[in-house]
Amino acid sequence: MSFVKESVNTQPIVDTVFTIVKKAKEDKLKVGEENVVDATIGSLYDEQGNLVALESMFSSLKSLDNKVLAAYAASFTGNEDFKDRVYQWVLNGNSHLPHEIIATPGGTGAVAMTIQECLDEGQSVILPEIAWGSYNLMAQMNNLNVVKYSLFEEDHFNLSSFKKACQKVMASQNKLVAVINDPCHNPTGYSMTMEEWEEVVSFLNACSKTHPVVLLNDIAYIDYAYGQKDAKKYFSVFDRISDKIAVVVAFSLSKSMTSYGLRCGAAIIMAKNQEIVQELKTVFEKDARATWSNINNGAMAAFVDVLDHHLDEYDKERMEYVDLLKERSSLFVKEANEVGLKHYPYKEGFFVTLAMDNDTRDRYHEALMAHHIYTVKVNLGIRVAVCSLSVEKIKGLAKKMKEILDTVE
Ligand SMILES: Cc1ncc(COP(=O)(O)O)c(C=O)c1O
Repeated sequence: MSFVKESVNTQPIVDTVFTIVKKAKEDKLKVGEENVVDATIGSLYDEQGNLVALESMFSSLKSLDNKVLAAYAASFTGNEDFKDRVYQWVLNGNSHLPHEIIATPGGTGAVAMTIQECLDEGQSVILPEIAWGSYNLMAQMNNLNVVKYSLFEEDHFNLSSFKKACQKVMASQNKLVAVINDPCHNPTGYSMTMEEWEEVVSFLNACSKTHPVVLLNDIAYIDYAYGQKDAKKYFSVFDRISDKIAVVVAFSLSKSMTSYGLRCGAAIIMAKNQEIVQELKTVFEKDARATWSNINNGAMAAFVDVLDHHLDEYDKERMEYVDLLKERSSLFVKEANEVGLKHYPYKEGFFVTLAMDNDTRDRYHEALMAHHIYTVKVNLGIRVAVCSLSVEKIKGLAKKMKEILDTVE
């Protein structure tokens, strides 16, 4: 007898993060903080080991009138000023397509809504082979199959694998929904070049001759890209989509504003054809109303206030952390290269991922913990969260990790 619907998978989530976070915490209490390397935490931490909460964002939030914090949002799709600022901030003038914005609970809400509403049960969604775990869970909860593309061919985006995955799906269903997490891919730290985006778009244009295409671009970490405004130029390539393609850009305040717990983000729907935009907007709005109703009013108001009145302060503060991430990751990658510790092509972002098969990974992950080094297992690799590791802890870490790897290989 079951008390949940028959079609739902009742296997518990295999948690790869929180159990290891807990182990690392316990170990710190046992052997002392200074003797443990905790590379598990996926949020931005400062050099003193504290969670970063951007002053510009939180002083703005706290200065809001209580009634603003208490109120419902102005509509199920979000407040008008929030939607306007999201569009300006994210696209930065690089796109001129018809568009609509739906405020969502974090990037999660935007990604989940797209996966849930664009595919029918039994259809397939196209995902990267190494990816944020929630994509697969979203597919499972909607009874979707997953077709994966491998991310890299040598040190660049594996366009031929992406094409193969799309062709396989097109052979068996009437629509394509593909997820690309870029820039600052989680967990490899890869960012595609403009040329790679051009190739993806021109391939999808060809696919759209026979199949409607939804391209879901998850940009959760975009505001930590080294290029900053330049890193948003690739959006201009979306202006070249055919009139049978929809692009949904999933934006999140979680990282951009270090406001993970406020649960605010947005789905930016774009298409050449206004009718496609309207169809998606109508369904997404209903999905929003039926699931979370409306979005945290204070978070939306604070985002608008920061962009309108504290932009310089916010930019300055964020850039300090972009530079810090660069310092940490450059050091780790440099030392890893010196000792021959193999990692996926890293450009920018919160994580560096070591490349290995899953058997080695499992043995290695245990061996690392025996040496008080805590990391997160991902498909075909070990994720090292440089976002939460101090420069001091990173110094010499790659060499130590290579020595431990040599004992399990
Ligand atoms: C790749 C990726 N996409 C989306 C998200 C969504 O985060 P949130 O729902 O907090 O915005 C995350 C968070 O870890 C992520 O890593």
